[in-house]
Parts: sequence; structure tokens; C-alpha cells
Amino acid sequence: MDICTTKAAIRARVRDWRAAGRRVVLVPTMGYLHAGHMALVARAREDAGPEGRVIASIFVNPTQFGPTEDLATYPRDPARDTGMLEAAGVDAVFIPEVSEVYAPGAQTIVETTELAGILIGKLRPGHFRGVATVVTKLFNIVQPDTACFGEKDYQQLAVIRTMARDLDMPVRVIGVPTVREPDGLAMSSRNVRLTPEDRAAAPVLNAALTEAEALARDGVTASRLRSHVRARLEAEPRADVQSVDIRDAETLAALSGPLTRPAVLLLAVRFGAVLLIDNRVVGPESKEETP
Ligand code: PAF
Repeated sequence: MDICTTKAAIRARVRDWRAAGRRVVLVPTMGYLHAGHMALVARAREDAGPEGRVIASIFVNPTQFGPTEDLATYPRDPARDTGMLEAAGVDAVFIPEVSEVYAPGAQTIVETTELAGILIGKLRPGHFRGVATVVTKLFNIVQPDTACFGEKDYQQLAVIRTMARDLDMPVRVIGVPTVREPDGLAMSSRNVRLTPEDRAAAPVLNAALTEAEALARDGVTASRLRSHVRARLEAEPRADVQSVDIRDAETLAALSGPLTRPAVLLLAVRFGAVLLIDNRVVGPESKEETP
């Protein structure tokens, strides 16, 4: 596995692979990898096929963290990450320093104007601008055929799909289902920062979503689903509920009334300093997700 720290090095690799007619698939990450990331890598390997090449990037992107957020304490372990990626059959890792990605005086940003301002975008102003900008840069640096992102970050996936469509980026964006711990907690690099008490309480997100899924099958309205989930979360004293939303699963438009199309329940809940998010697609023709 090649380890590339510069744009020039990763571009040279990709140029050679392209010259040999190989597909290139990218898995962008911020490192501190877990089974959820490895599911992205497995999906990327499948998409690349035996002749294609898989690149993973590891970059804790400062522009997607707010001034009071956890950039400094975001967990990092590049040696362990690169070992896991090599074992999973990744062909190259792009692991640049911040100065390699953002030149001094950089002033160009990419923003999905509507999607970036709703839901998590309200709780974390500027977050999706940072995500869209860095993913654009990664797409431009690597020029992959396909890129894989987790469905756990549902709004992020919507932002990236919208950006790729609106800016005619020639990259197919694949969403990969959420991987869960045995007790249902969605895997996240931030889970390690939960106290033992908060870790024990955190599966309430999955429990609330699973109940909502059953209620949606019984034909409960969007507003009743939302209030059921909120009440279920608020019954957990350690959970500081930041937002509970139900939106059109494709457009993220707000919903009320009976569910006539697939809808997505989106949760953001703080446990101490750690913000956890989770989601579930419910209603007509939704895929069932079993932890
Ligand atoms: O989901 C993540 O890990 C990050 O937001 C991403 C897509 C790698 C951009 O920094």
C-alpha cells in the first residue's frame, strides 16, 4: 500500500493507474477508523473490482469544525489506521498535513446554500461548507470514478450528492449503510469520548428509531412519530436532545401529516460534550435496517 502525504504523490499514483485503464474509488475519512469505515472500504473494493484501485484519505479537516468544537481533541491514530487499511486491501492512502490541503490565502468555498443551513447545519454553522469544500478538493486531487460515504451522516451524504449533481462532478457517490455496535449504537469515531455512563445510555437513539419504524408501519403521522421519538429520548436523563426531525428521505423537505413517501428521522443528541447523530428511513418502501 502506498502512503502519500502530498497532492503530487497521490496524483502521480492515479495517473499511472489511469494510464493502465484502472478504475479509481475513493473513501474519504477523518481517520480513527472503526468497522463503519471498513464497510466503506469493503464497498469501495467491490466497486473497484479486481483490477480497480481503492484510495482512502485520512484528513481531519479543520474547516468543518466550529471555533468551540472538538478539532483539537478529535481522536487520531494514523499508524493503526494505515495498518487497518492495508489489511483491508486498500491500494493507497492519502494522508496530508493541513498546509498541503489549504494553501495560505485560500478563499474559495463550496456551499449547498439550502441544505447547509438546515438540521445539523443550524447546530453547526459552517460545518457543511467545510465538508463540501474539502470533498470538492479531494475529488479534484484524486479524480475518482466513485466515492463512498456513510449513511450515518445522512445530511452530509445529501450535501455531497447535491454538490456533485449541481457542479457536474463526474463522480458517482455511493451511500453505505450504518454499522452498529451489538447494542445498536451507530459506530462513530466520537464514541470513544463517551463516559462509561453516557456510553451505556447512548443506545437510546437506536431504540427510539426502532420504535418509530414500527409506529410508521402502523401508519402513524410524521408529527406523532417526531413527538414519540423526542419523548423517548427525553426520558433518558443523560441525553441532551438537540434536534429530532422528520424529513422527506430524498429532498430533506420538512414533513407533517401521513407518510406517503419514504421519510427520514434525523436525531442529534448530546451526551456531555459529545454530539451523537443517527437516522432511520421509515414509511412506504423504506429499507429496514436491523442493528
Ligand atoms: O465523514 C467524514 O469523515 C468527513 O466529514 C469527510 C467526508 C471525510 C470530510 O472531511
